[in-house]
Amino acid sequence: MNWPASVTIKEVGPRDGLQNEQVFVSTADKIAWINQLSGTGVTSIEITSFVNPKWIPALADAAEVAKGIERMPGITYSALVPNRQGLERALAVDMDEVAVFMSVSESHNQRNINKSSSAAFPILREVVQEALSAGKSVRGYVSTVFGCPYEGPVSIDEVIRVSETLFDMGIGELSLGDTIGIANPQQVQRVLDILLKRFDANKLALHFHDTRGTALANIVVSMDMGITTFDASVGGLGGCPYALGASGNVASDDLLYMLEAMGIQTGVDQEKLLAAAIFIQEKIGRDLPSRNLQVSRSNG
Ligand code: HMG
Ligand code: MG
Repeated sequence: MNWPASVTIKEVGPRDGLQNEQVFVSTADKIAWINQLSGTGVTSIEITSFVNPKWIPALADAAEVAKGIERMPGITYSALVPNRQGLERALAVDMDEVAVFMSVSESHNQRNINKSSSAAFPILREVVQEALSAGKSVRGYVSTVFGCPYEGPVSIDEVIRVSETLFDMGIGELSLGDTIGIANPQQVQRVLDILLKRFDANKLALHFHDTRGTALANIVVSMDMGITTFDASVGGLGGCPYALGASGNVASDDLLYMLEAMGIQTGVDQEKLLAAAIFIQEKIGRDLPSRNLQVSRSNG
């Protein structure tokens, strides 16, 4: 297999992780946790989202969090935005990067953003253009790439169409979302085989949820195919509240353990990352699913 020399882990726990939690983590605790994550060696943290707080109450304090954290040089602080209002809120607190999102499947778009893709694309195009002219980098997510909770299998042509549209708007990187953690390694190979004929591997990231325990296997296959950027949440926090059956992202600490053991550089410190997972586990008040947390719990 082809192993990369290094991999970038993008920490999305403060956004994807917290958005689905029932417990409201206080603003002060979010800030302390993000500052702790900033000290682990990660170079990108998605700290919150500027969506409608009625839809995602867990992140209603987005602006306070963005204003309260210490910004470390060399780290890109990113936030999810669904529309112009979200972008304005993100620009007001000087985010480095914004991330726009779009699903391959119409039913998921309706539930997630209350719109069809044809209604949402012009809005996103404006958001991307404005963010770029404000000097921000822009990331795109395409959701339900490997299957939709409402529609089942999705068409690869539709994945290509949505991805091309987002790139055409000017996004710098596209993160391919396995929103409900349904992908398997063969499918990942098949999908990437097609997408890599159209898009550069270094412009793609993979975003696996680990609902069914296949995320690390999917990452191994993705690395073999030339992908070197992966989204993850410490402790395996997270899920999409509008995707039935979606559980947490692949755990950053489990991913890091595997990469380190394979001699693949990440620049992230295992002990510090695990400490950040333990911190948020205590605030959430339940055992989080990552295997490394399980090991640390059983070691007392
Ligand atoms: P809507 O209700 O259709 O919005 O929501 P609207 O434009 O009709 O406005 C209604 C109200 O929302 C108004 O307020 C607006 O001001 C307000 P009111 O007059 O009723 O008081 N509003 C906002 N407030 C604050 N910030 C904003 C904003 N926009 C409107 N940005 C909207 C449309 C898209 C906003 C809504 O559906 C929404 O917030 N959706 C977000 C859902 C979400 O966050 N989902 C999870 C993230 S996606 C994900 O997890 C997948 C991913 O991880 C990848 C993967 O795993 O595949 C990225
Ligand atoms: Mg997600």
